[in-house]
Amino acid sequence: MANDLKQQMITRMQGAASLNLAFVGVVNGLFDALHRLGPATPEALAAAAEVDAGYVRRWCDAAYAFELLETDDDDFRLSETGDAFRTDAEGTLMPFAVQAVLGAHMAERAAGLMATGERPGEAVLAERSTILPFFGPMLEKTFGAMFAEQILPNVPIFEEVNQKGGLAVDLGCGNGWYLRALCGRCPGLRGVGLDGFDEHVRQATDLAAAAGLGDRLRFAEGDIHDFRLDEPADLIAMNRALHHVWDGRDNVMRILADHLAPGGAAVIWEPRWPDERSSLRHPRTRGMAFQNLAEHVQGNHFLRPAEVAEAMRGVGLVPEIHTFAGGNEAVIVGRKLAG
Ligand SMILES: C[S@@+](CC[C@H](N)C(=O)[O-])C[C@H]1O[C@@H](n2cnc3c(N)ncnc32)[C@H](O)[C@@H]1O
Repeated sequence: MANDLKQQMITRMQGAASLNLAFVGVVNGLFDALHRLGPATPEALAAAAEVDAGYVRRWCDAAYAFELLETDDDDFRLSETGDAFRTDAEGTLMPFAVQAVLGAHMAERAAGLMATGERPGEAVLAERSTILPFFGPMLEKTFGAMFAEQILPNVPIFEEVNQKGGLAVDLGCGNGWYLRALCGRCPGLRGVGLDGFDEHVRQATDLAAAAGLGDRLRFAEGDIHDFRLDEPADLIAMNRALHHVWDGRDNVMRILADHLAPGGAAVIWEPRWPDERSSLRHPRTRGMAFQNLAEHVQGNHFLRPAEVAEAMRGVGLVPEIHTFAGGNEAVIVGRKLAG
């Protein structure tokens, strides 16, 4: 029995090590560089990625051991798994590597902070300089397809704003992927995004320009609690952002209601915290339970859709709840009645 448990832990430890190694490759562009080069020595790979050859040689040995790379003599090439960690690979595995290392960072912070109960807030995300630049891309690659394929076609408000055109706002916009996807689909929409991290705002601005949407999308750094806009919005989105400002929800809900045009809607997308604790054991849900501990470090916790709907009613918005991904994701639309 004890040996069985140890074997299970060795398997888990090797899984974590494999994702940690992948993270090193992702951050330094090694998977992408090796894809471009074809079989290459560690020195050639280091030169192409513009990083240190000593580190790359050790990484290649380790990545070979964990089957991210294959080798002939001193030439290394991507295995099928290694190829799937390229940032641009279809259905890229990059988010798993970023989540694994971000999770380890948050676990270390939770371990150290538990004694005092201190909750340092959003800044924890920026404590590791290699993680923050990949936070936006990680979310885009994890949720972009779900938005395009499941949420956009099935939540009627999107087709309504597509017909009307106007202004869409995204509060806590990350790298701006949502406004890029929405305005790419709705030619009559303009977009304004706000985020607290200048790294996110810089990425959002560059990516919008690269997508040919630079003239319709504008991004700014700022605090959601202080958001002001001098024209009414037809849609105000918050994706995985409302739980970050839930302590100030009265103010945030008032900001949403005040800034919406009559007939407009707030569209809140949040992980759906389950009603029953037993659901947390489900393999599709348990990651959310771990993440909720990381959210606590940041001063947040996950929400139940009914709580969001109730807060919307409190400012006169009329809520409707849509669920996706087997009930793990909730989109709550709060309409401001026309007239
Ligand atoms: C989980 S991320 C979601 C990012 C993006 N909406 C997405 O779906 O990819 C939460 C975002 O909210 C931003 N945020 C949290 N609190 C904020 C605040 N008070 N003001 C502005 N941005 C905030 C964070 O910087 C972060 O980019």
